[in-house]
Amino acid sequence: MHTSTTAQFIQTRTQSPSPNITRQSILNNPGFGKYYSDHMVAIDWDMHQGWHDQRVTPYAPLTLDPASLVLHYAQAVFEGLKAYRHPDGSIWTFRPEVNAQRFIHSAERLGLPELPIGLFIQSLKELVQLDHEWVPSTPESSLYLRPFMMANESFLGVRGADKVAYYVIGSPAGPYFASGVTPVPIWVSTQRTRAARGGTGYAKCAGNYAGSLAPLNEARRNGCPQVLFLDSERAEFLEELGGMNIFIVQKNGTLVTPALSDSILPGVTRASVIELARSAGHPVEERPISINEVRDGLASGQVTEMFACGTAALIFPISVLKSELFSYGNDGQVAGPITLSLRQQ
Ligand code: COI
Repeated sequence: MHTSTTAQFIQTRTQSPSPNITRQSILNNPGFGKYYSDHMVAIDWDMHQGWHDQRVTPYAPLTLDPASLVLHYAQAVFEGLKAYRHPDGSIWTFRPEVNAQRFIHSAERLGLPELPIGLFIQSLKELVQLDHEWVPSTPESSLYLRPFMMANESFLGVRGADKVAYYVIGSPAGPYFASGVTPVPIWVSTQRTRAARGGTGYAKCAGNYAGSLAPLNEARRNGCPQVLFLDSERAEFLEELGGMNIFIVQKNGTLVTPALSDSILPGVTRASVIELARSAGHPVEERPISINEVRDGLASGQVTEMFACGTAALIFPISVLKSELFSYGNDGQVAGPITLSLRQQ
């Protein structure tokens, strides 16, 4: 048993850790989101005790009452961040305090309790320290951490839960797309949107992703691995890809990305790209981008590159934006230099 400095986490080690050979073969080719490390973090919350029972346990299925609120009304939020192994063997998570802050905003929007930033960070440390052997050391690989919170009170009435649980699981991750950094075609959803003014678009909540899945299926039927959503009022301005933000690059080196709003998720990678680009001398504009601006810019050469970014996928180049009505861009395109340089940085 082990206790840590701030909150006390009770640690129960698994009796059946993955054999070294199994873990190594997973880490050599982890894909994305398919395998999980040996342990998980769990913390409970209720109205009377607040956060309590911090623990690290063997990774195992959850037992949920069929009447759990989350199963019916999707009162759930999550985060995604990566732990990387540096060449000296040390392990670093990328800007976890930004995810912790966003988790608080997401929880507030979904009527869930606030998990203090310190407890969020500590929960990551507890898992990564115990499962450090699950952090790959190969290039482009990491241990993807998935903290999530859900309403596990059994109640069929519609209201915020009095009983909630928080978990962290870890999943070794390689490239999100098997195709690597080859530019990918993106399907533009012209009929169905992701988020509206005053809605939950800025929150990382399960329901946002559920709403993106039918359009994503449509994208995949049309040969595109991802879907881009337009604004819900006029279906005219770029919003985001559902799990990633979007940038266009202009021929003078300016980067343009949709301004944040209550219908766009404030990506940690998005913010990092903006900082990196500015520090490299690229002007960055955060403003509305119409689909017609992209069409005209690609035709005139004013728009030279397009890319999407997110924690899971990092930065990947976009070749074409297409829908049942149009196709803007060039399928044979290679990744642009600014996209590649930002990705490398
Ligand atoms: C992430 O990039 O971490 C995401 O949340 C995207 C997706 C895997 C849900």
